[in-house]
Amino acid sequence: MRIIQVNDYADMSQKAAELISDQVRKKRDSVLGLATGETMLGTYAALVKEYQQNNTSYREVRTFNLDEYIGLDATHPNSYRHYMHEQLFRFLDIPLSQTHIPNGCAPLLEEECARYEQLIEQCGGIDLQLLGIGQNGHIGFNEPGTLFASTTHVVRLSESTRKANARFFSSADEVPTHAITMGIATIMKSKQILLLASGERKAWAISRLLEGEVTTDVPASILKTHPNVIMIADDEALSLV
Ligand code: GLP
Repeated sequence: MRIIQVNDYADMSQKAAELISDQVRKKRDSVLGLATGETMLGTYAALVKEYQQNNTSYREVRTFNLDEYIGLDATHPNSYRHYMHEQLFRFLDIPLSQTHIPNGCAPLLEEECARYEQLIEQCGGIDLQLLGIGQNGHIGFNEPGTLFASTTHVVRLSESTRKANARFFSSADEVPTHAITMGIATIMKSKQILLLASGERKAWAISRLLEGEVTTDVPASILKTHPNVIMIADDEALSLV
């Protein structure tokens, strides 16, 4: 794993946006794996700026998001589809039909998971997967205990994750109890992974990832076995290492 240590959130975002736009310029029909959460807001803002300044074309790019809440449709302000539209897609020239996010309102959720997994394969797999990290070391919504062999599946969110994400909802009760997420094996199949971490909130997870053993108790720890991972982390996120 290559670690790029940066001062703060702004530097992390800038560096991440550079790596993503380099990937798209290098391969115009890149398949990008995308993530949500507070961590990615600055990266998407920097990516939009880069796009506007340099006309980097996303016309042939296809995207797959990591996860989506169950029960929130595209119009819900807390759905990840809504987040992606607001933060990124509406600014780029990417056709919306090339942007994929699990459908958390599908009538048959198991079928939706299988469809999503298959679609990623049909597109030739993910070239660059962007990843955040949960405070408990989760990636996507793969909570501690998730099998490393897991593919796209339905998960019950842990209380700590629901609590951590409650800040985006008007009350903690509104946070959905379940989500669809790419599995750990799905994520690990990506050709390259870009992991971002900023702030003290992430320091415990980052130290467990870097210094602990590879264990399902800390899902992100599996990333140490991937041949092509870049981690961009700021001083605070690295403060316990
Ligand atoms: C959520 C998402 C993850 C994300 C994590 C961290 O649980 N499913 O993909 O990495 O939160 O979020 P934040 O960036 O807001 O700290």
